[in-house]
Amino acid sequence: MGGGLLRMPHKIDQILKVLRDACDCPLTVKTRIGFEDGQNFSQILDIFAANQIDLLSLHARTVKGGYRSLPDYSYVDQAVARLPCPVLLNGEVNTAEAASSLIKQTGADGVMIGRSAIRNPWIFKQIRQINSGKPIFHPTLENLYDYIQKLYIIFYKDEIPEIKQVARLKKFLNFIGLSVDTEGQFLFRSRRVKSWLELDQLCQEFLLHDGRASQFLNLHPFEGLVARPSSEASTCIG
Ligand SMILES: Cc1cc2nc3c(=O)[nH]c(=O)nc-3n(C[C@H](O)[C@H](O)[C@H](O)COP(=O)(O)O)c2cc1C
Repeated sequence: MGGGLLRMPHKIDQILKVLRDACDCPLTVKTRIGFEDGQNFSQILDIFAANQIDLLSLHARTVKGGYRSLPDYSYVDQAVARLPCPVLLNGEVNTAEAASSLIKQTGADGVMIGRSAIRNPWIFKQIRQINSGKPIFHPTLENLYDYIQKLYIIFYKDEIPEIKQVARLKKFLNFIGLSVDTEGQFLFRSRRVKSWLELDQLCQEFLLHDGRASQFLNLHPFEGLVARPSSEASTCIG
């Protein structure tokens, strides 16, 4: 519902006033740039400034743009210029290099990374390595295999039926699968497995066998693959 508020800046102001008075802790805001377009953005920035928020994370798309429109990072420039608090850039930061160059380009204080952190959990280490001029760690497909095993173990609960445990893992695999194979076969087949054994065999086939274990993981998602077709595909409205 938060996104809908972007059509009613006065409500954002009311809510932030109440929160500001009530909060002894830092008050941070995460928002998109607008609902249908960015026409309220300038007014909303004034509201953030007037209510002295402590940090803004800005997903540089409209609500209507879903995950389909391209982020417009010029809104991050505006937020950085107008707000005294730190601003984090968010939206489509897919590689460590992109994180570093977008921070330089916009003057943002940092980045918030969503989907690519699930796909490539080494991205934060890679950013730190770039920032300190060190060689960047390049994960292999075997590292990815180990990561999937760890996800299964971390989320494993004795009392939950196996099929549900596997279903839960698929939420992660939707993002991980974007950089496994160009054709999206891993994605396609992983969505259809019903047991951990079946999934593990699939992971071994795509990530370990036939010399794949030592191959480097593609750091960028492959073009044309979609993690969540119902909410991210170009034919969807929302
Ligand atoms: C699985 C998942 C859960 C999310 N949950 C929330 C949420 O609870 N609140 C929120 O503001 N954004 C949520 N988001 C949106 C992300 O915080 C982020 O704004 C968006 O994915 C764009 O960043 P990215 O391109 O790095 O993924 C979620 C995204 C994903 C993929």
